Amino acid sequence: MPSYRYKLLSNGDDDEQISTKPAVRRKKILFGIIAVAAAMYAVFSAARFLVRSSRLACHKPPGLHRNLSSLPDHFTLPSGDNIPSVALGVWQAGRGEVGNAVKTALKTGYRHIDGAWAYGNEAEVGQALKESGVPRDEVWLTSKLWNNFHAPEDVEPVLDDSLNKLGTDYLDLYIIHWPIAFKKDTSQYDPELTADPYPTWQKLEEMVEKGKVRNIGVSNFNIPRLENLTANPLKIKPAVNQVELNFWNPQPELLKWSNDNGIPLEAYSPLGGTGYVQKSLNVPQVKAIAAELGLTPAQVLISWQVQRGTIVLPKSVTPSRIEENFQIFELPEALFVKLERAAQSHPPQRVGNPSKQWGLPFDIFDDYP
Ligand SMILES: NC(=O)c1ccc[n+]([C@@H]2O[C@H](COP(=O)([O-])OP(=O)(O)OC[C@H]3O[C@@H](n4cnc5c(N)ncnc54)[C@H](OP(=O)(O)O)[C@@H]3O)[C@@H](O)[C@H]2O)c1
Ligand SMILES: *[C@@H]1O[C@H](CO)[C@@H](O)[C@H](O)[C@H]1NC(C)=O
Ligand SMILES: *[C@@H]1O[C@H](CO)[C@@H](O)[C@H](O)[C@H]1NC(C)=O
Repeated sequence: MPSYRYKLLSNGDDDEQISTKPAVRRKKILFGIIAVAAAMYAVFSAARFLVRSSRLACHKPPGLHRNLSSLPDHFTLPSGDNIPSVALGVWQAGRGEVGNAVKTALKTGYRHIDGAWAYGNEAEVGQALKESGVPRDEVWLTSKLWNNFHAPEDVEPVLDDSLNKLGTDYLDLYIIHWPIAFKKDTSQYDPELTADPYPTWQKLEEMVEKGKVRNIGVSNFNIPRLENLTANPLKIKPAVNQVELNFWNPQPELLKWSNDNGIPLEAYSPLGGTGYVQKSLNVPQVKAIAAELGLTPAQVLISWQVQRGTIVLPKSVTPSRIEENFQIFELPEALFVKLERAAQSHPPQRVGNPSKQWGLPFDIFDDYP
């Protein structure tokens, strides 16, 4: 089993651009302002909380505001298939806990599980799906082709392994996990196999023709890589591109390109991932919108991303959070714009980038070739 877990960058690692000296002073002033604002805000929210809790206590569960419009529960892909707009992500959902997470999610109403061969938990996901009693054809199952298997002859065997483990004979979506190929049985970069994803893609097209997969897509592709792949005479266009999207890294240019080119984005690490989730939930603008609407900060962030038109993949193994993350609502336009601006008003910071860990002689997300 190859090593696939990559370290989340620490703050210090990817702050380089912005921690020059004047910026430090700016930061101090900024922190001062934020501290005062936070204090005022705390008093204000406490007062509001007291008012609200007395008002809502009798008939509404706290934190659920029912006066907001709902968001689409699915998007329609170019193939005509409907993909549920919110999935349960299962990366880092460990053995012995992922099955319960999947069952809780299905009971809550999720019909989309975002998994991968490399997460090492597909057998438990499949078992949970079976035990849930929810029919296979009501659930959207995604898996991903790991870096070791980009050689065309390696694709079908590892796809079959995922199908066996999941206990199904087809996937709804199979995506190339990274635009990076490793040499067979190692975690060593393979330059030749990495240079051109088209041969791998042709094999995936064959898997669709064989009925083992309904949709195929990519993950972690930037615009130049997408342009390179789609310049080929594809029989099937990528159905989605799964990338990091969150408050810290909202990628407006990629989102625009994707809308213009009809390749929807799936938002991974939508809460900032394990390393940044607390920081995300404490963003002042996010907390303010949450307080104003009677939602939780996580619900605001997930709602915002569905409203941006992306399929969102929050991961949790905690039942209350799994339920929380599924209750989403349309943000009133002004608040949506406010959050979009806030997300774009700081230098973008990626929360996950395995380029260094994999010893690559370039950064995966830099321009290419
Ligand atoms: N294609 C790729 O290369 C790629 C890369 C990364 C991720 N992904 C996919 O995207 C999914 C999500 O990404 P991610 O796991 O990195 O990040 P994430 O969903 O942004 O964050 C997950 C973290 O947030 C916590 N959390 C979830 N909901 C919460 C809530 N309502 N309140 C407080 N904490 C909450 C989880 O804790 P608990 O679980 O302990 O509750 C976990 O620590 C993955 O599972 C995977 O399916 C794909
Ligand atoms: C609820 O929605 C209705 C109609 O959209 C609106 O008139 C009313 O003011 C809203 N109430 C609250 C408390 O926001
Ligand atoms: C994609 O890029 C690779 C590497 O530069 C190149 O060999 C290939 O021809 C490109 N594909 C297309 C269709 O331009």
